[in-house]
Amino acid sequence: MSKLLQAFIFDLDGVITESAEYHYLAWKALAEELGITFDRAFNEELKGVSRMESLEKILVLGGRQDEFTPEQKASLAAKKNDHYGTLIQQITPADILPGIAPLLAEIRSRNLKLGLASVSRNAFTVMASLGLKDEFDVIVDAAEIKRGKPDPEIFLTAAQLLGVEPSACIGVEDAVVGVEAIKGAGMFAVGIGSEETLAKADLVYAHTGLLSYAEIVEKFDQA
Ligand code: BG6
Ligand code: MG
Repeated sequence: MSKLLQAFIFDLDGVITESAEYHYLAWKALAEELGITFDRAFNEELKGVSRMESLEKILVLGGRQDEFTPEQKASLAAKKNDHYGTLIQQITPADILPGIAPLLAEIRSRNLKLGLASVSRNAFTVMASLGLKDEFDVIVDAAEIKRGKPDPEIFLTAAQLLGVEPSACIGVEDAVVGVEAIKGAGMFAVGIGSEETLAKADLVYAHTGLLSYAEIVEKFDQA
């Protein structure tokens, strides 16, 4: 079946900029205050996961999930977000990851649409700091999304707002649950990270510097 490519839909944290590292540092600091230690392997399970769900996973890891009231959990999550907010204040356009600006330029030069599907409630702030807010046709508001990744809702919402069929979209993600969400939406998935971790992606690049518009579109056409 021939498909006509119409849009690229990107995740933000860990794809467009290295803010995934700031999420990691902020969660790690909070976890340590609670006497819970976690490593980068566990952090893979937090990527693409909403703020409250991430907190729950950390509390379960430390066996402390039953020790806090909903209000206390909300204040723990707010504390992490305050720390994260401080870290992202340093973000400038220089923090756009290698390979992303040329890829966005290629997409634009072919009049394809650009969407952002991040579950982060800080996505608008980060995109503004990167100078990319107006480059995208659609930035999905995470607050409007009912089901987080791996549910395909956020990618389907992006496609709908862009006015394109999911099968005409390519999604780009660094998270396991993100790749699952793209595939669940019926889109072609490009993963950024390890092939082993992102085994469900249609094409994987170890880092964004290796992204190739020509190769991605060739594989999309063959899929
Ligand atoms: C995702 C990140 O993009 O956003 C997760 O991969 C993060 O690590 C999630 O927890 C929610 O972000 P925020 O900014 O709303 O706490
Ligand atoms: Mg991500």
